[in-house]
Amino acid sequence: MMIFKRVADMQSWLTKQGRPVGFAPTMGALHEGHLELVRMSKADGCLTVASIFVNPTQFNDPKDLEKYPRMPEKDAQLLDSAGCDVLFLPSVEEVYPPGVDLTVHLDFGSLDKVMEGEFRPGHFRGMATVVNRLLDIVKPQKLYMGQKDYQQLSIVRDMIRQLALPTELIMCPTVREADGLAMSSRNLRLSAEMRETAPVIYQTLLWAGGELKKGRSAPEISREAVDILTEAGLKPEYFEMADGTTLLPAEHYSDSTPIVACVAAFAGDVRLIDNVIVK
Ligand code: PAJ
Repeated sequence: MMIFKRVADMQSWLTKQGRPVGFAPTMGALHEGHLELVRMSKADGCLTVASIFVNPTQFNDPKDLEKYPRMPEKDAQLLDSAGCDVLFLPSVEEVYPPGVDLTVHLDFGSLDKVMEGEFRPGHFRGMATVVNRLLDIVKPQKLYMGQKDYQQLSIVRDMIRQLALPTELIMCPTVREADGLAMSSRNLRLSAEMRETAPVIYQTLLWAGGELKKGRSAPEISREAVDILTEAGLKPEYFEMADGTTLLPAEHYSDSTPIVACVAAFAGDVRLIDNVIVK
């Protein structure tokens, strides 16, 4: 696996290969979910680039940025064994050259205002900015992102459409631990007790999906879901059944297709998100 820290070095190497590129952007502390993106890209026959960049502009809480786990050597080994061709490991200055404003100012309508958008102001603008910048650097034919971050993926899809970028977005299903907990770099920070409690998040999502299918109203189910999570010892920020395209609240199973149940909850001081596509 090639490792590049400089934009110019990677670009000149990639140009020489003359092969379609598949790209998986990450913030590191890699797990099977990230590696699945790499494997999907390889299975599609792409020259596969993964990036590790803890993007400061998408953290609304400076403490969260500081505490974000960093382990580039271990990550490089994992990527190499998953068959990744290139690791891009840029510095902040490489991604954001001083004096250049690369901020994305697109209007994402409802997509960046609900759920995560409500609780993490500025997060999606920072995320869209770095993904746009990375796409401009890597110029991939295919971009691999996880369903785990459904709202993020919806915003990137909309950005690709609005900017008419020549990149196809491919969604990778959420990879889970054996007990159902969605894999996340943040799981490393869970206390032993919270690690035991956290699978209730996925169980509640599955339960809620079942209730919606039975014909019950979404707001009522969501209120009960919040109670279930709270009683289990978590601190839910939201539990929402959303139209999978606009991400606006859905009321009933028959309202729209797809419907996705989304949740954010604190397990101790670790903020976890998850979702299931109900329909
Ligand atoms: P990060 O949280 O490192 O996630 C990188 C990619 O891995 C995202 O597309 C995410 O959806 C996917 N992913 C994470 N956990 C997953 C799981 N359990 N199963 C499947 N895919 C999973 O998301 C980011 O980084 C950043 O916002 C980024 C897009 C890199 C921009 O900075």
